Order: sequence, then structure tokens, then C-alpha cells
Amino acid sequence: MFDMSLRLDAAGPKGVPLVNNLKFMATSADYATRVMAPFHDQPVIPVTRGHGSVVLVTGEQAVRQVFTDNDTFHRAGEELFDLPKGRTFSGMFDAVITANGDEHRRRRRLLMPVVQKSAMDHYREIFADTFHHSRFADAAACDEPFDMAAEFLEISMTNLLRGMLGLPDSAENRELAALILSLTASITHPAVILFRHDAAWTPYGRWVRRVAAAYERLAELIEQRRQEPPRWDALSIVCNTTGEDGERLSTSEIAGELHAFFSAGFETTALTLTWALLTIIARPAGSGTAGPLGLDLTDETVLDAVVKESQRLLPAVPISLPRRVVRDVEIAGSAAVPRGAMLWAASIVEHHRPESYPEPEVFLPRRWLDAATGPRPHEFFPYGIGARRCLGAAFADLQVRVTLGLLARQRRQPELLTREVAYRMRSGVSAAPRGPVLVRLGPPGADRTPVTGGVTAYWRQ
Ligand code: HEM
Repeated sequence: MFDMSLRLDAAGPKGVPLVNNLKFMATSADYATRVMAPFHDQPVIPVTRGHGSVVLVTGEQAVRQVFTDNDTFHRAGEELFDLPKGRTFSGMFDAVITANGDEHRRRRRLLMPVVQKSAMDHYREIFADTFHHSRFADAAACDEPFDMAAEFLEISMTNLLRGMLGLPDSAENRELAALILSLTASITHPAVILFRHDAAWTPYGRWVRRVAAAYERLAELIEQRRQEPPRWDALSIVCNTTGEDGERLSTSEIAGELHAFFSAGFETTALTLTWALLTIIARPAGSGTAGPLGLDLTDETVLDAVVKESQRLLPAVPISLPRRVVRDVEIAGSAAVPRGAMLWAASIVEHHRPESYPEPEVFLPRRWLDAATGPRPHEFFPYGIGARRCLGAAFADLQVRVTLGLLARQRRQPELLTREVAYRMRSGVSAAPRGPVLVRLGPPGADRTPVTGGVTAYWRQ
């Protein structure tokens, strides 16, 4: 996966290249912000100085170049999701999220109806219904503490199943969603990356068997849906669409897209909701501003500013998906980055630049209310940028706003009970708390709970 022969003439952290690469993949938010901090003025930072196998780009110009030149910076897929060839499930990870060039454009065009404006009214109803069945709306159980992160995961899983995929919210489908999420989580595990031997006893072999089980279940769902009349949801669209040659998509092609929806589509949204609610009901310990947030979240403009500010401060996906550099290239005037390098951009770094966001560690929703001084597009990218921007961004944005908007209208409001909250990388892509984040529903207007822990590395006042 890493080409360890590559050189890059630029400063970066010291250390053993392979060890640093694995550390970077497992702890990328922390590595990119803390270990690479002395080099943040460079457009390209090697994960190990002088070494070219893994690099981070920083600064507006470099970020723009990488996100707009998709012919030079390919989405790295195959090498991460490497499956044995010639099996029914070998194409399980071929999807819009991993494809490049014309194949990417074809798959993206095909899926666009799923997120068209006309689909949003339907989604809105489902999001509201899911909220009203959640613990946040359960006034009878108001004194009982519950884990808000787990509850948001339930909510966003239901919304993905019912909304985007038109599937029942059954135990079987939820199990499938959890299985697929766990497949993505294992991908960045060093034992799976480094030792790709397909035997029953290896971590890679066990991972391959779980992929096969998920594929079988997806194939069943696809077969069932093919028997039904066409509907508006993503599963129906991919089951009924035909390619340029007039052929329907194969089961393997459809399974690839479904896999991507499950792996990218609900944990990310749940974490966005978790970090947003945390910034509303908590504050870093020691900061001078006690009391409630004091903002009217039933006002859509205010809620929008609060959500964006929390996505800026604690992005659910703090680092881009990986790119593979396919030709030697200078990035924003850097030394040439060699062909074959793996490359990332980190929203968590760009979202905390003082030149873009004065007092970057302060939660200040009002910075979003003034359009004249608001950030430029390449300074804020919780969903990526350009032709590869998150396909589910509109679906997720609406879900977050409907859920938090309804929550703000509840008579009983969540009060945070957990005092220490971590912000740590999970599956190499998203940032999650460690352990439960307990809340209890109580009267509105409670003081924000002071928190300590990993979140305060990014949110200090
Ligand atoms: C708040 C929730 C979400 C966040 C924060 C998020 C974030 C992201 C990010 C950062 C990227 C990669 C950008 C890049 O590196 O170029 C991405 C890509 C993608 N996301 Fe999301 N996402 C969310 C929800 C969803 C949902 C609900 C779906 C669909 C069900 C989805 C499907 C995808 C797909 C298919 C791509 C690949 C797009 C392409 O390569 O053309 N995401 N997302």
C-alpha cells in the first residue's frame, strides 16, 4: 500500500517512515494537528521528513489544487479495500466513493437523483418521525440517563435505512448496517493492512469472510428489490437503472454502492449530531462562560450557524479520504510530490487556522452570521469540495437540522452528565467520543456542563 522507496525533499516529523505512516492512519487528527504543527506553513508535509510515501497538504491553495485536480489526485481505493480476486464479492468496494475518471463521473450521474431537491421533502418527514420515536422525545423517561452518541447512531441508521434506501428498520437490516460499518473500521488496522494472507486464522482472512457475509445479504436485498415496482429511493434507482450499453447494473456493482452508503452514510451523521449537541450543552472546563448557550435554536439561521461552527471546531470527518498521486506534481509551489505517494488534506487543520478564524479554539456561532467576513469555500470543508464533494451532504445537512431543530422545541432539554469527552479517530476517517456521552432530559435553561478530555485539544474557551 505504501511505496517506501519514494523521497520528498521537505521538512516533516522525525521517525521511522513505516511506523509514522501507521500512526498517521490510526490517529490522523492528532498527528496532523499536533505532530505536524511546526510545519503547517508548508503546502506539503511528509509524514516523515524527506520521505515521500505519505503526505499531508495544508493551506488554502494546496487544498484547492488537490480537491479540483481529480485527474492527478486519484481517490485511493483498491489498495485499501484489497479483496481476493475471482470471488462473487471481489467487487464489493467498487463504487462512486472509490472510482476515478470517467467511471466516477458515470456513477455519480447515476446516483444524483437520490439527493435531488424533490427527494428532500420526503426525507424531512422521515427524519421528523424518527426523532419523535427517539429517546430525545420521550418525556416519560426523562430522568433516565442515556448515551446521546448511541441514540444519534440509532436515529441516523433508521434515517438511512428508511429514507435513503427505502428499507424497513428491521433488526436484520440494522445488523447488516452495523456489520458494514465494522468492515470499514477494520481497514486501517495494521494487522489487516500489513499481512494480507487470506487464511481463516489471520485478521485479514476473518475480515474477508465478514465481507463475504455482508455481500450475500446485500445480494438478497438487491434480488428482492428487483422483483418490486420501481420507487424513488437509492436502492430502487440503482436496481432499475441501465448503463450506457442499456444493460442493468450487476448485483456486484449495486452491492458496491450500497456498501458505500452504509459505510459513509450514518455514523458520520450521528457523530456530527453528537459534536453539535455537545457544543450546545457543554463548555470546556475553566472557560469563563457558564450558563446556557443563550441562542434561539428554533431560529433556522441561528441553528445553521451553530451546526457550522461545531463542524468547524470538531468535524466528524477531520481528514479527507486518501488520494493516490498519479504523476509527479508540484503542489502550491512545493518540491515535487512523487507519483505513487498517498496524500490527505485535513479539515481539522484548515478549520483551526487563526488567519481564517480569529480565536480558532473558541466556539463562536456568530462568525457564520456575517456573510461578508465568513470563511471562503476552501477554508471550510466538512464534506470535502468540488466534483467529489460528499454525495450525501444535503441529506445529512437536512437530517442534522431537522433533528436538532425539533430537539430545540422540546419542553425537556438534554443536560450533559459525562464530564470527560475524548475526540479520537475511529476507522481512520471519523472522530468519535470514547465511551458513552450520557445525558438526561431536564428543564430548559440549565448551565452548560464543563468538560475535560480530548475535545479540549481543539476547543479551549
Ligand atoms: C454529516 C455527515 C457526513 C459527513 C461529515 C460526510 C463527509 C464526507 C467527506 C469528508 C467525504 C470525502 C471528501 C473527499 O475526501 O473528497 C465524503 C464523501 C462521500 N460521502 Fe459523505 N459525509 C456525510 C454523510 C454522508 C451520507 C449521508 C452519505 C450517503 C448516504 C454519504 C456518502 C458519501 C459518498 C458516496 C462520498 C464519495 C463521493 C465521491 O467520491 O464522489 N455521506 N463524505
